[in-house]
Amino acid sequence: MPSMNAKQRAAAEALKYVRSDMVLGLGSGSTSECFIIALGEAFQSGKFSNLRCVPTSVQVENLARKYSLPIIRLEECGVVDLAVDGADEIDPRLNLIKGLGAALIREKIIEQNSRRFICIADSSKLVQKLGTKGPLPVEVIPFAHQTHEAFFHSLGGTPRLRSREDGSPFVSDNGNYIYHLTFSEGITSPQDLDRKLHSRAGIVGTGLFISMAEMAIIATESDIRILHHR
Ligand code: A5P
Repeated sequence: MPSMNAKQRAAAEALKYVRSDMVLGLGSGSTSECFIIALGEAFQSGKFSNLRCVPTSVQVENLARKYSLPIIRLEECGVVDLAVDGADEIDPRLNLIKGLGAALIREKIIEQNSRRFICIADSSKLVQKLGTKGPLPVEVIPFAHQTHEAFFHSLGGTPRLRSREDGSPFVSDNGNYIYHLTFSEGITSPQDLDRKLHSRAGIVGTGLFISMAEMAIIATESDIRILHHR
């Protein structure tokens, strides 16, 4: 068997928390895809029965269907037993930045309706302060979206509209646009920033996942660490 990379190791560890009869939330991004592949292979080998999966994006729904994992809508089940998802940045309190894969809103809706949310990542995602490695995604409705730019600047963020290769705005699964906000010194108070962003009409949601992850499985090529929310 070929050796596993860090993302695959984190995904394999998360599989230990899956049981038959569970409703699972399937995250988006490359680490989550490792989990879906491991889950799909285990499901096809008969290790689990009566799983139902709630995907956070069209892309991972298509991947799950390749393994015949049963797909269910969040409205049908109401509550997810266990969500497993990656992150772009993880701070020491297990606050996260997510959404560079553009699935932030569906991820947040599904994870806030999950009994347990386990974050899986390679160790490159650990930071002392959110916003120090990459931008914060913020999803907005297309209407007059340019008017948010001054507001973003007033909060200390430098906005860039996510675009496609042809230069047109990237459109999320929800039909919205996404701004990436860069903070030169990182994000001093994620809670405060999240509250301010949410108070503005036209902003649908942010990639700040505060106090949502119960634990994080952090893998390197050679070891695995489990971090708990505190
Ligand atoms: C998807 O919208 C994101 O929240 C991903 O979970 C995040 O970007 C991590 O992706 P990778 O696992 O590909 O690093």
